[in-house]
Amino acid sequence: MDNSKKTKRKILVTQALPYANAPLHLGHILEAVQTDIWSRFHNLNGNECLFFCADDTHGTPVMLKANEMGIKPEKLIDDVYKDHKSTYEIYGINFTNFYTTHSDENKKYSEYIYECAKNNNLISKSNIQQYYDEKEEMFLSDRYIKGTCPKCDAENQNGDNCGVCGASYNVLDIKNPISIVSNTVPIKKESEHIFFDLPQKNEMLKIFLKDVDLQKSIKNKLNEWLNEDLKKWDISRDAPYFGFEIPGEKDKYFYVWVDAPIGYIASIANWADKNNINMEDLWSENSNYEIYHFIGKDIAYFHGLFWPALLSAASFKLPNGINVHGFLTINGEKMSKSKGTGILAKEFADITNPETLRYYFAAKLNNKVEDIDLNFEDYVQRINSDLVGKYLNIASRSASFLKKNKNILSDNINNVVINNLILKKNEVISLYETKEYSKLVRVIMDLADDVNKYINDQTPWKKDIDEAIEIASTAVNAFYILSVYLHPIIPNITNEAFEFLNIKKISFFDVEKTNIKQINDYKPLLNRLEQIIIPEEEDMDNVNLINIDQFSAVDLRVAKIVKAEHVEGADKLLQLTLDVGDLGQRNVFAGIKSAYDPEDLTDRHIVLVNNLEPRKMKFGISEGMVLASSNDDGIYLVSPDEGAEPGMKVR
Ligand code: MSP
Ligand code: ZN
Repeated sequence: MDNSKKTKRKILVTQALPYANAPLHLGHILEAVQTDIWSRFHNLNGNECLFFCADDTHGTPVMLKANEMGIKPEKLIDDVYKDHKSTYEIYGINFTNFYTTHSDENKKYSEYIYECAKNNNLISKSNIQQYYDEKEEMFLSDRYIKGTCPKCDAENQNGDNCGVCGASYNVLDIKNPISIVSNTVPIKKESEHIFFDLPQKNEMLKIFLKDVDLQKSIKNKLNEWLNEDLKKWDISRDAPYFGFEIPGEKDKYFYVWVDAPIGYIASIANWADKNNINMEDLWSENSNYEIYHFIGKDIAYFHGLFWPALLSAASFKLPNGINVHGFLTINGEKMSKSKGTGILAKEFADITNPETLRYYFAAKLNNKVEDIDLNFEDYVQRINSDLVGKYLNIASRSASFLKKNKNILSDNINNVVINNLILKKNEVISLYETKEYSKLVRVIMDLADDVNKYINDQTPWKKDIDEAIEIASTAVNAFYILSVYLHPIIPNITNEAFEFLNIKKISFFDVEKTNIKQINDYKPLLNRLEQIIIPEEEDMDNVNLINIDQFSAVDLRVAKIVKAEHVEGADKLLQLTLDVGDLGQRNVFAGIKSAYDPEDLTDRHIVLVNNLEPRKMKFGISEGMVLASSNDDGIYLVSPDEGAEPGMKVR
């Protein structure tokens, strides 16, 4: 294929704007890597792809966090901005512009889109009732309310759903509401809110969903909402709020989800301005740019419904595509700071080469909305086997032969080996385009296997020097092609590879013209990874005081061990079947194998944490935890006194 004949595509791509109230975690990096690979790929494929992002700075969490720290929100978002920007740099995320939603551009576009919506009769007002914290003098959204579940009476439940019985409810129906901002009892108070008339956009949204490039499962979900559940959207928040004031109103602010996506446009406008480019040419009604958003599954609703509705209200071009990815889990568990799996992106970069994480994510990512697990053992194994053992091994084992020839390559290379790699070019391109990165990585590593097999079969170490140099020269040319194919995934390692190959700048599809003449001495481009251990954060000597509500949130029950068994492949675990009386049976994996024989456990009464989130393990799902104490000598299960029956509460 001749690149010059292709029409160059013009593409704007965005990733979701991270909240400016905390450092980036590895989930954020997953999304950034998925988007960055796609953007780098397009640029190397002869297209123009511009990649925009910003910090999402507005809303209550930022405001409260700043209050808590005793600083102004502006100071908080400034500090977080620097931290986010440098973190993305560590992972090689190549933004065209990384901006902030707290900007003049964003204020201007937010006001403009709102005015357009108003002129199109899409804006209305009505009164709503909300909880109000009299101590903090603020209205409280659901997430700042806790209370007793109106369905099952479980205490200390979330404002809009119960973690014990799973019910969702209106926050106003919760019993014994408590403001978690001030720990006081909130009052109900009325206030006027401004609404965007989403139902009026129903037909437009249906057409949008038909045309947009978006995963089927998400389309179906959004269509369900369109057909059943579309209500007017509350776009205002009362003071105090950190955000943009709504023009023509007093003490009313745009809800953060209004100005957050408009932040995409503002980031582009800010860059356009700095580069003397007309914004009309980038994102307007008739722009020639294709527009793509990369987001996580939790915010599909905002991007698939609210956002196109806002855009259409102001006659902006609608996105061509939205790519939705699943969530990152770590060693099979949801990311959570307290479990030590909420690993910060900066911490992880201290432990390992950040570029290897890009590779690992690529090796796991596809274009489905599936969750993705980062398993440390698998990670180390994968990097060592693929990048060190397959890809870089080709360069390191060939370089030693060429060194004997002053690093000069032979012209007489094996074209069958090289053509085998070139032939995969279109497949590589297409897998990048469709974001099937895991398949792509497999294709590239299979090619690396082919090259290593060629070297093994040719046994250059047994051959005379001329022949050995021909074999090594073939391998090095193959290494060049593999480096080109891998470049969007591991840009730094491959750039070092190009230095080794004496190549200044690569243009992606010149793999056909492969002709390396002379190389530089080979220096290892990546060391084998060691086992990954995340430092523990807990300080056991520090006792944190909790209140009675927090304690009551733990549902402790007497349970009887009906069955205890060994678990194949687990050296610490026993599998327990527990009888919890009226609550039924539970399956629990307990790390007590070193201290107990299964036979001795049958019929024993123990204490179970009954409402622990079920945990997916290699061996099955663990539905709770049994209480035990331990020291260096052993593990000691906690048992109730005689008379306690399965199912009884412990408190
Ligand atoms: N600020 C909003 C997005 C506004 S876009 C106009 C937001 N911020 S966030 O910081 O919570 O999340 C940013 C992105 O990271 C979202 O796409 C979200 O889905 C993604 N992720 C957050 N946690 C994640 C994982 N554990 N795994 C993968 N992605 C995750 O939402
Ligand atoms: Zn409940």
